[in-house]
Formats: sequence, C-alpha cells, structure tokens
Amino acid sequence: MATASKRVALLGATGSIGRQALEVIEASPTLEVCALSSGSQPLDDLAAAHGVEHFEVGGDLASLLDAAEPDLVLNAVVGFAGVGATLWALEHGVTLALANKESLVAAGELAVAAWGRGGGLLLPVDSEHSAVFQCLEGRSRETVDSVVLTASGGPFRNRSLDELESVSVEEALAHPTWSMGPKITIDSATLANKGLELIEAHFLFGVPYERIEVVVHPTSVVHAIVRFRDGAALAHLGYPDMRVPISFALGYPDRPATPIPSLDLAAGMTLEFRAPDLGCFPLLRLAREAGVRGGTYPCAFNAANEVAVAAFLDGRIGFLDIAALVERALAEASGSAATDLEELVEADAEARRLTEGRLATA
Ligand SMILES: NC(=O)c1ccc[n+]([C@@H]2O[C@H](COP(=O)([O-])OP(=O)(O)OC[C@H]3O[C@@H](n4cnc5c(N)ncnc54)[C@H](OP(=O)(O)O)[C@@H]3O)[C@@H](O)[C@H]2O)c1
Repeated sequence: MATASKRVALLGATGSIGRQALEVIEASPTLEVCALSSGSQPLDDLAAAHGVEHFEVGGDLASLLDAAEPDLVLNAVVGFAGVGATLWALEHGVTLALANKESLVAAGELAVAAWGRGGGLLLPVDSEHSAVFQCLEGRSRETVDSVVLTASGGPFRNRSLDELESVSVEEALAHPTWSMGPKITIDSATLANKGLELIEAHFLFGVPYERIEVVVHPTSVVHAIVRFRDGAALAHLGYPDMRVPISFALGYPDRPATPIPSLDLAAGMTLEFRAPDLGCFPLLRLAREAGVRGGTYPCAFNAANEVAVAAFLDGRIGFLDIAALVERALAEASGSAATDLEELVEADAEARRLTEGRLATA
C-alpha cells in the first residue's frame, strides 16, 4: 500500500539548511514540498520544478502557511524574520521542524504558550538539540540531571583577546567543521550561536539554565550529552552533516536512511572536551545572563546580535565590537515581558534602534 505523502512547507528554501532539506525531500518517497519561501531570491524556477503553487519572496509567511495547509513546517529562515512562522505552526498544532533558533530565543515564552495550546510536535533541527531530543526520548524529566551542548569553538578557539581584535570577515567565515549560512557562521565564531542554543534548549526541553552546560569539542562528533540522576550519561555522535538532523525531523519517527556514512571508530577518533573561554567569547556569558533575566532580554540579545553581525559582515565594525554592542543594548533594553507578538516586535525594534544608534555614533 502506498504511504501518503507528508506535505512540507519549506521556509528559507534558498539557504544552506533549505537547500539541504530539498536534497532530503527529493530523496524521500514520502515527502513533498507544498510551499516555499525566501527573503529576496526568486523562487519561480524552484516552485515550477517541484510543482509548488504556494511560494513567497520576503512576504507574509503566516498567509503563505494559511493557504498551503502543510503537514509540517520546516522553518529555515534566518533571524527574527522567522518568528511569525514558528508561532503559526505552534498555534495551529502543525508539526514544526525548527532550524530558526532565533525565533525560539526571541519569542520563547510566547512560543511555549502557543505550543501548549496547539499541542503539535516541535522537532529541533539544530544538531545539538536534535541530539538532546533523541537522548531524552521516552525518559521522564525527573531522571535528567543536566544537558551538555557541544561547541566546535569556531575558527578562533585558540586565539587570545588581542589576536581577536583584528580578525577579518574572511577568517571569521572559515568555519572548521560546519558549512553554513553567513550569519550563523559568524555566530559560531563569536560563540553567540552557542548562547542562542542555550536559550533554545531551555525553552525546548524545559531545563533550567543552571542545568545546561556548554563545552568546547573541536571535532563536532559528539553533538550533545544528557546526564541522568543515576550517574549515566547518554551522548549522540555522528559526523557533522546537517542532512542527518534535517532527515530525522522530516522523517520523524521513522529515522529514514541518509547517504551520510556511519562513524568509523577504528580509523581513530579523539574526543576532546574543554570549558569555553568566556573572556574571549563574552557573547556566551551575555546570552546566559539574558536567558536567566528572562522577559524580552533574550529578544534584545538576539536583535542586537543580528544588527551587530550584519555590521561586522559589512566591514563597519571589528569582531570584538559585536559583543560590546550586544552588552550595551542589554544594559539599556527595558527587558519587560511581552504578552503578545506586537509587544515582542516592539522589544525587537527597541534593541535594534539602540544598537543602530551606537553604530551611528561609533
Ligand atoms: N546552516 C546550518 O548548518 C544551520 C545549522 C543549525 C541551525 N541553523 C539555523 O537555520 C537558520 C537558517 O540558517 P542558514 O545557514 O540556512 O541561513 P542562510 O543560508 O542565510 O539562509 C537563510 C534563508 O532565509 C531567507 N531569509 C533571509 N532573510 C529573510 C527575511 N527577512 N524574511 C524571510 N526569509 C528570509 C533566505 O532567503 P534569501 O536566500 O532570499 O536571502 C534564505 O532562504 C538559522 O536560524 C540558523 O541559525 C543553520
């Protein structure tokens, strides 16, 4: 008997995750694309190739999703622009495969409330969170002691603060283990990405911040570890390739085959872990502080970081200025909790204004 297809709305289809997701979908007999979106790149050819009627360039993602009625939304938009789609899927109880971590960071409390009302599945695509999800499956939360997220440490993990002062955009874009879009690649170099992931993990798994640890693990083979109360720890291992967590989320719960090879342990493998250097990479500390303060501080952290990363990529500021700008925005942001999307958008805009203002006078 033929299996019914799962209709996937692929948001951010032209990006790094979007393109890899298309590869996974094209190889699957049970997945089909029903909607596509991009920020500015045209989608006509892609839509025609996949027979997709619903597509949107830089427009309103909630209306696109209303029209397409997907079974699953893969949110691979970059940045705060993904918030509306995340809230739409959670509120409607439509399975959400979430790559767009910024939306859960910025809208964490609203998203968790919408998820509770909608009652659908929220499947992380971030490799670390996919790993935690898998280590936690079928286990009750009371048995969990703590969660460990691994960080490659980025291209600058062995640099001193003095050396970081003058690193170039090209050096920051050369990630040692993952090939990704420009914004997340810079976030990986500053460790803001791990800060965003820390907040994302808090909202996804309901684990308090003091029970989420970040360790540097240069080869990115262990994606996450969950420690349990009996002293056991489960780890998730695999070569760093985003098609694995994308396939896991799109195919859930079937764990379809992928072309990625299994781990070759006999070829030799070093599993090294160490504490991150918060002096050189203050954005990880700032993210944790924003998460613990709650309210719209995580939203302000994300907004200021987005503005600062764009300015760094444009050559307007240096690498270390990114953290300085975010720290300043967090000091000045009101941080009060948002009760709806409108208030959240205002908190995001406030942090952007504060950061743009600093940039203009720098
Ligand atoms: N890449 C990875 O390996 C990886 C791993 C884990 C998590 N993630 C997360 O996945 C998300 C996507 O990352 P990526 O690396 O795939 O980014 P990317 O390559 O920069 O792609 C971003 C996608 O979002 C679209 N977009 C940009 N601005 C938009 C806007 N204002 N409104 C609507 N759509 C917009 C882009 O369209 P255009 O092409 O038209 O600009 C593109 O399709 C991020 O949240 C990232 O943190 C990525």
